Amino acid sequence: MLVDTHAHLQWATFDKDREKAIRRAKKAGVKYIINIGFDIDGSKRAIELAEKHKELYATVGIHPHNASQFNPKVLDKLRELSENPKVVAIGEIGLDYYRNLSPKQAQKKAFEAQLFLTKELELPVVIHDREAHADTLKMLSKFKEKINVVMHCFSGSREMAEDCVQSNFHISFAGPVTFPNSYKLQDIAKWVDLNKMVLETDSPWLAPQEMRGKRNEPAFLPFIARKIAALKGISVDELAKATTGNAQEIFQLF
Ligand code: NI
Repeated sequence: MLVDTHAHLQWATFDKDREKAIRRAKKAGVKYIINIGFDIDGSKRAIELAEKHKELYATVGIHPHNASQFNPKVLDKLRELSENPKVVAIGEIGLDYYRNLSPKQAQKKAFEAQLFLTKELELPVVIHDREAHADTLKMLSKFKEKINVVMHCFSGSREMAEDCVQSNFHISFAGPVTFPNSYKLQDIAKWVDLNKMVLETDSPWLAPQEMRGKRNEPAFLPFIARKIAALKGISVDELAKATTGNAQEIFQLF
């Protein structure tokens, strides 16, 4: 049994077969799926899905790409949405200096305001960090003893992974760990302690190697689990048990 801690089944690419994708995930041994918000509408749709399906949960947040839309009214809306019992975290929030779809200053402002909200609500947080490692860690450092942090689709260095683990953050692994040239990430997956890792697909993006080029979906999570178990030289069962336990504890999925 696995938990997909990061998917976006609310995305339009699932409009034609969303229910089937949820059933396929169940069949593949994915017990819970957390659909991650990226703007207000995406957060609302994640909640609607979670209300329809017992095994689905939601997060609410404004992605760094959408940070220019952020303002105090949006923050109030997030606070209001977070009252829904199926909302298990704030996210995904953070910094993206790779695409820079919102100006850096706007990204930092939205990130910080949402970190304060996370602390206020005593929820965990799902972090998006792309090519913004130093600033992301710097901003998180003010909150590290106060918030449960999950580094979504980790893409930093080994040194950064060590920093994260030392700060008690969890590291989430997605499809890229299965890519043949991902030596750096595979080395990190090998090294990270079982009690500090969780798994995700980031569907519909980043399909694992075996499905590369296809739309990703939560049913593909076992490919990621098998790869990491092989890297660590443990059974898939052992990996599943540990990562599922971590996800249940962080996000309170019971
Ligand atoms: Ni995502």
